[in-house]
Amino acid sequence: MATNTRIVLASRPTGDVTAANFRTESATIPVAKDGEIVVRSRYLSLDPYMRPRMSELRSYVPPFELDKPLTGGSVGEVVDSKNPKFAPGDTVIGMLDWAHYTAHSGAGLRKIDPAAAPLPAHLGILGMPGYTAYHGMIRMGQPKEGETVFVSAATGAVGQLAGQLAKLRGARVVGCAGDDAKCDWAVKELGYDACFNHRRERDYGAVLDALCPKGIDVDFENVGGAIMHAVFARMNNFGRMIFCGAISEYQDATPKPGPEKMFSIVQKRLRIEGFIVSDHIAGMGEFVSEVGGLLKAGKIRHRETVVDGLENAPAAFMGLLKGENFGKLIVKVG
Ligand SMILES: NC(=O)c1ccc[n+]([C@@H]2O[C@H](COP(=O)([O-])OP(=O)(O)OC[C@H]3O[C@@H](n4cnc5c(N)ncnc54)[C@H](OP(=O)(O)O)[C@@H]3O)[C@@H](O)[C@H]2O)c1
Repeated sequence: MATNTRIVLASRPTGDVTAANFRTESATIPVAKDGEIVVRSRYLSLDPYMRPRMSELRSYVPPFELDKPLTGGSVGEVVDSKNPKFAPGDTVIGMLDWAHYTAHSGAGLRKIDPAAAPLPAHLGILGMPGYTAYHGMIRMGQPKEGETVFVSAATGAVGQLAGQLAKLRGARVVGCAGDDAKCDWAVKELGYDACFNHRRERDYGAVLDALCPKGIDVDFENVGGAIMHAVFARMNNFGRMIFCGAISEYQDATPKPGPEKMFSIVQKRLRIEGFIVSDHIAGMGEFVSEVGGLLKAGKIRHRETVVDGLENAPAAFMGLLKGENFGKLIVKVG
């Protein structure tokens, strides 16, 4: 008999995530109850925010529950429906279990046209990470012609679009990434003016001084830690630091201190602002139309790492936290 494979949170990590934090289980394939649908997952997005959700800390999203399947942004096909809003064959996007099949109320799921773009693109460049880049860079960072913009994790799901959008606004764009091939792609394909390998460079201040001789006007912050401290010290008057994430700190057992000389926020009249993309869903249409148009016109590049098989999701996720993904990380579930 066919079974539903699913991956549950077996234990909460202390420090780095390990394979022991996950457990693969077999369950029966769910049947839709009144008002429900059953969705067969096709693609599952793996994202850095899942790491804080594995811990018990209170945050803007509740923690994953022990012994329950982890969940993630997914694209799937409705295979059974007792909900009048959905029919078998519909392609939907939203939060599904790390599983082949999820029973769902339908709340928060949205139908998409599978012919509009390849399915993984809905989870990357045209999905949550793309919109994160758009909202953070365009609406918050507001880069202007001739300004210098810095993007950490420059080739990741968010960074790859953030950098290209700043470039299209006429800025000089500098990034950092975790290996030479990523930096090459950033410069040759994404149009970054420069990109340094943060795993090889030891003196972040010196490399930023060389690559950003006029200082930094907009920091699109994905990583935090030592790179962010060096950027902070090089912000120009009226600079904007847009805090999208701090992935280098997600596995820390104790919080890291902030940068020195915080009074320079006053002296330089800096704006330092964090955001969570889900607060801005109402404005997503503008992003889909602008970035969808740029994509169709061939003016935007994007890259995904697609890992085959749900059983490989835990290892792929652990790799994401070490920079092993090149571009948006997605699991092909089935
Ligand atoms: N605020 C929001 O609403 C929102 C939404 C989506 C994502 N985010 C945040 O945006 C950031 C990027 O997310 P993403 O989905 O685009 O992920 P991603 O960049 O595709 O993948 C994560 C990347 O982070 C880098 N990294 C991992 N560990 C690192 C470390 N210790 N030090 C330095 N770099 C490290 C690696 O790139 P390298 O190999 O280049 O180092 C890795 O590939 C994350 O901080 C995430 O939490 C925020």
